[in-house]
Amino acid sequence: MSRLLEIENLDLYYGDAQALSEVSLSVDRGQVVAIVGANGAGKSSLIRTIAGIEKPRAGHIRFNGQDITGLESHQTCNLGIGQVAEGRQIFPTLSVEENLEMGGLLPRARSKAGETLERVFTMFPRLAERRAQLAGTMSGGEQQMLAIGRCLMGQPELIMFDEPSLGLAPTVVQEVFHIIRTLHAEGMTILLVEQNVAVSLKISSQAYVLENGRIVMSGSGEALLHDDRVRQAYLGL
Ligand SMILES: Nc1ncnc2c1ncn2[C@@H]1O[C@H](COP(=O)(O)OP(=O)(O)OP(=O)(O)O)[C@@H](O)[C@H]1O
Ligand SMILES: [Mg+2]
Repeated sequence: MSRLLEIENLDLYYGDAQALSEVSLSVDRGQVVAIVGANGAGKSSLIRTIAGIEKPRAGHIRFNGQDITGLESHQTCNLGIGQVAEGRQIFPTLSVEENLEMGGLLPRARSKAGETLERVFTMFPRLAERRAQLAGTMSGGEQQMLAIGRCLMGQPELIMFDEPSLGLAPTVVQEVFHIIRTLHAEGMTILLVEQNVAVSLKISSQAYVLENGRIVMSGSGEALLHDDRVRQAYLGL
């Protein structure tokens, strides 16, 4: 397996407040890697820094062998870093199809947008049925599917999920995990931040525990799932 994403000694500040301290991690091609941590640990900050939304004060981010530290988010997107953000961030006043088309406007994805749209509609028949519906009137679960579909329209090589199951009903949560598993089975590389720690560790080959902006533990998902500290702190066992 080859390395797709490599992060070295990343520091991020908001003003004087340090949100990430010397964060190092790596993601191999085809892997699902989980980031686990309490509220405020810095999980979203890490994802936003990789995406180029936040600018680190120190450290390096390499993607596909290229140093992408400090690049803007449209640049990281066009290199193949996709993101399904916390809160989903779809365009509520555009239709389902228009939302998907927006995802396909990335230069890297434009020429294949038609094909990819058909793939997304096959993967999410509900989006196909509702292609003309305004996105803001879709249910929470449907909006999450749309957010994932829109991300796929950009032909990502890496998808970063930030709390994809947040606020969704249990059956929809199952559906979201099913989609993540399917994407993984198709060879997608995935960085997963998920409040449902047990499930996220089960589907990840590698996992990192973030506390107060620092990586304090890492290992295979399986190993962390059986680690006493992780079980007490994040699984309530
Ligand atoms: N834009 C911002 N300006 C200032 N501080 C911020 C900003 N975004 C996040 N922070 C702070 O950085 C720290 C890490 O926040 P972050 O959102 O990354 O945590 P998180 O692990 O994603 O938490 P949660 O599980 O609640 O989503 C928190 O203390 C938060 O208050
Ligand atoms: Mg967060």
